[in-house]
Amino acid sequence: MQHPALEVREVQAGYGPINVLWDVSAAARAGTTTTILGPNGAGKTTLLRAIMGLVKVRSGAIEIDGQPRTGNATWDMVRDGVILVPEGRLIFRDMTVEDNLLMGAYPARSRPRAASNLDDVYQLLPRLKERRRQLAGSLSGGEAQMVAIGRGLMEEPQIFLIDEPSLGLAPVVVDEIFAILRKQKELGRTIVLVEQNTHMALSLADHVYLMQSGRIILSRTAGEIDINHLHDLYFARETAT
Ligand SMILES: Nc1ncnc2c1ncn2[C@@H]1O[C@H](COP(=O)(O)OP(=O)(O)OP(=O)(O)O)[C@@H](O)[C@H]1O
Ligand SMILES: [Mg+2]
Repeated sequence: MQHPALEVREVQAGYGPINVLWDVSAAARAGTTTTILGPNGAGKTTLLRAIMGLVKVRSGAIEIDGQPRTGNATWDMVRDGVILVPEGRLIFRDMTVEDNLLMGAYPARSRPRAASNLDDVYQLLPRLKERRRQLAGSLSGGEAQMVAIGRGLMEEPQIFLIDEPSLGLAPVVVDEIFAILRKQKELGRTIVLVEQNTHMALSLADHVYLMQSGRIILSRTAGEIDINHLHDLYFARETAT
């Protein structure tokens, strides 16, 4: 059987003495979109950070294409094409749009193709091309999110982890961001999407996980999702699957 592109098995992780993730197991199949839903504080960002080696994994395993990667340095994950678009965008405000994008061309594996990747990003995100000399700090929230996604694409993601791209954006801008992600899905990219916008996330998902209090409380293929059950669990009107 083919290995999932990314597999997390019984991972426990947290910050200092505080444990946040409790035996979290999840997998993302190659070429599919896996979404992780859950309320504030559920541990979604912590899970992505644990995968990236930004939060220490206390126990359990992380595998890429069936190969162990637990405890890998973030740099090694990036080298293997595991790319995170972080929560809150985290772009360099005092640098131009183009220089922000070029930061994504820093890893040696994608550097030789920086120019053609930049062309591709500008084709996907023409608004960034218009604003390429503008300081990133003066962008709208939606444009800043596009820069963060564009920077990730410059890194040639094999597994694209995207943390709450819709956060704080107006509905029309959320639609634009999801249209960009849908294009990436159609290109066959492996995407792991963390979202609180259930409706939008489900429109893209092949597989859905729901997290609460550091645990996965629901794992379903998109076709099996009962939206009412999901909302009952999400809003803790029920506690078990
Ligand atoms: N640097 C940190 N130090 C200590 N605790 C942290 C740290 N970052 C997050 N936490 C705690 O870990 C828990 C999970 O946080 P996390 O950011 O992973 O949740 P989340 O699901 O991404 O929430 P949100 O939807 O608000 O982004 C929370 O209780 C949070 O307070
Ligand atoms: Mg978060």
